[in-house]
Parts: sequence; C-alpha cells; structure tokens
Amino acid sequence: MLLSFDDDGPGPVVVLLHGFPLDRSMWSHQQASVGSIYRVIAPDLRGHGTSAAPDGVYSVDEMADDVIELLDALQLHEPLTLGGLSMGGYVALSIAERYPDRIRALMLMNTRASADSEETARLREEMATEVDRTGDIEPVIAKMLPRLFSLSSFQEHPETVARLHGRMSRMTARAVAGTLRGLATRPDRMALLPNIKVPTLVIAGAEDQIVPAEETDRMAGALPNARLVTIAGAGHLAPIEKHEAVDAAILDFLQALW
Ligand code: MLT
Repeated sequence: MLLSFDDDGPGPVVVLLHGFPLDRSMWSHQQASVGSIYRVIAPDLRGHGTSAAPDGVYSVDEMADDVIELLDALQLHEPLTLGGLSMGGYVALSIAERYPDRIRALMLMNTRASADSEETARLREEMATEVDRTGDIEPVIAKMLPRLFSLSSFQEHPETVARLHGRMSRMTARAVAGTLRGLATRPDRMALLPNIKVPTLVIAGAEDQIVPAEETDRMAGALPNARLVTIAGAGHLAPIEKHEAVDAAILDFLQALW
C-alpha cells in the first residue's frame, strides 16, 4: 500500500516512523532541525494521517512492508537510517529483522522490543471490540492522551495536548481497531536484539508512562552497538516534549555515522 509521506532536506536519508495514534506531523521539530542537514522521509503508517485505512488487522509486519514499498518507490535501495517512536519502533524492528540490508543505523525512541503481555493484549482487544461496536474512538484517545506525556508536559503545555488530540481524533474507527489488534498480536523481538549490529540510538523518556525508562534500558543493554540517551522531563513523546534534547541526541548520533 503506498503511504502518504513528507520527503525534504539534503544529504543522507533518515526515515522517521511515528507512534499510535499519531501521524507524520509528530516529527515537525525533527523535520526542521535534522532536516536542515539530512533528507528526512516521514510517512503516515497505514490508517494514520492521510494514508489509506483498509479493513482488517494492521499487523506490524504489514506496516513494515508498506514502508519498504515506499522506499522501493523512491528508488532508495541503499541502507539508510531508520528511526521510530513506540509503534514506529516496533515497525523499525520488524524491518531490522526482515530487511536487514536496508538499514545502516537505527534510532529506537520510547519503544520496546517485547510483545504485549496477555493482559495488555486482552485490554487492546476489548478496546477494539468497543470501537467496532460504537464507531467512537474518543474513549481510546481519552485513555491514552494523559499517558503520552510526562505529568509536567501535560499540565504546562495544554496547547500541545489539544493539538495532538485534534490530530488523533481524525483517525477512523476502522483504523484504530485495526491498529490495536495489530499491536496486540505483534511478535516479541527481544531475541533479535543481539543480532542487530548496526549503530543504534536508543532514546528513553525518564517519565515515560507507557514504556518505562527501565525497559528501554534493558533493550539498549541487549543491543550490541547501542547508545542510550535518557531525556529528563520527557514522557512517551520525547521528540515533541523535549525536542531540543532529542534533536541534539539525533544530530550527534548521525554525525558520528558520516
Ligand atoms: C505508541 O505510542 O505508538 C503506542 O503507545 C504503542 C503501544 O501502545 O504499544
């Protein structure tokens, strides 16, 4: 499926994959900063932003195949830097496992390699069933929104919270249910980590309520070539909440590659 995307900037390619239930606009700070030196490509994953929202379960591997299809369409066959936040990180790990020769370096932000626990998967299925039944995604957003930010970002930046809320509300019920089911059934990729030899930047939010920083630490520890940067004061959306610190970490990491 051909995805909507932004593609701008000079230099080596950096692909950025957003989280759920966001879209490529979450990278606006990085498009300005990283994009002044690198060619930043930011797609909307299926069902998100302006990409199509087909029926069915949006498996993480299928989302990864969409990204590869986009890179093929752009004639980008050389290994490149691939970054992802949370769900975008799950997709990046799927690409690292199934298309390793497409990756020159990885950036895993506010994400994990493990699968859902049985309880989390069950709760996601419950939410998906409810969304299917009512056609209303607002309860899912209302539940997620405060958990996406650190407490201080949530309280001090109501305009950012409101902007994201507006963007999330544009998702269709079909896409929310399809993504929830895809996330709940994604494979565990912890065993893959020791085989990822490319340089990897791992970014954790010190106050991430969805992927606790300790879990990100464990993932970084299992990666043979990883640099871990923990962003103070950031929750689950470090590239939005503390973009200066995240931009600096990304630019520093990329500079060491080239
Ligand atoms: C995300 O930010 O992409 C989601 O929190 C991922 C998840 O719920 O596992």
